[in-house]
Amino acid sequence: MPPVVQIKDIHKIYESGEVPVHAVRGVSLDIQRGEFVALMGASGSGKSTLMNMLGCLDRPTKGTYLLDGIDIDKLDRNELADLRNQKLGFVFQGFNLLSRTTALENVELPMLYGRHRKVSTAEIRERAMHCLDIVGLSQRFDHFPNQLSGGQQQRVAIARGLVNSPQVLLADEPTGNLDSKTSVEVMGVFQKLNEQGITIVMVTHELDIAHYCKRNLILRDGVVVRDEAVKDRLIAEQEMGKLKQAEAAAKLTAAPAA
Ligand SMILES: Nc1ncnc2c1ncn2[C@@H]1O[C@H](COP(=O)(O)OP(=O)(O)O)[C@@H](O)[C@H]1O
Ligand SMILES: [Mg+2]
Repeated sequence: MPPVVQIKDIHKIYESGEVPVHAVRGVSLDIQRGEFVALMGASGSGKSTLMNMLGCLDRPTKGTYLLDGIDIDKLDRNELADLRNQKLGFVFQGFNLLSRTTALENVELPMLYGRHRKVSTAEIRERAMHCLDIVGLSQRFDHFPNQLSGGQQQRVAIARGLVNSPQVLLADEPTGNLDSKTSVEVMGVFQKLNEQGITIVMVTHELDIAHYCKRNLILRDGVVVRDEAVKDRLIAEQEMGKLKQAEAAAKLTAAPAA
């Protein structure tokens, strides 16, 4: 099987301003099925630009991108939108949930957008419930976003990203708005999904979060300056266990002596 992502020497030049901005300057990248990649780099290094191209939200100025073997340059707008719906799921930093809409309805949304709606209402409901179950939130299906914690909201957003059974999940700073314990919990959800075979590419600027991934890529000024396998990878379940032990110990010390 070919790599799910094959990028050859892509460039992105923004021509909108007075001076063209050469945001991505020749990136070549293969991502195999089952990889879990953290994309890192300073602000302005081109992470979001690269993610937008990976997500077929924007096209490269130059170079080729094959997604699951399909050359996106050969597709028109509608075909590209279809490919995006079929192959990709998205998770954003700010969760982007609709506030007057329940968790379940938020997860159903991407299934309603597709140009070819073949799925019945009952099946849509069932698939959305299944995805909430995967992220451990099926009991809260009828809660509104403001009735959920930040971590729970991000898990709803992950369920929404999964609902079209994507091959690749793209996440831009998915833990950016979360405290460190909740971040570990969310990384646990990603690790579980990755073990089930979903390829994940996420942007993060937190080194410890990148340690939960399998491969770290570092961008600088629009080029990849480092690409390495993660050594001594962190496992979210173990880290959660340690955090709970530390909390319990802190409570014991805080309790007044009998
Ligand atoms: N739509 C745009 N128009 C013009 N310049 C842009 C646009 N988006 C990003 N840039 C520029 O491209 C460079 C890379 O930006 P970006 O990909 O957002 O980096 P990062 O996500 O790593 O912070 C920056 O210099 C930024 O100002
Ligand atoms: Mg960015």
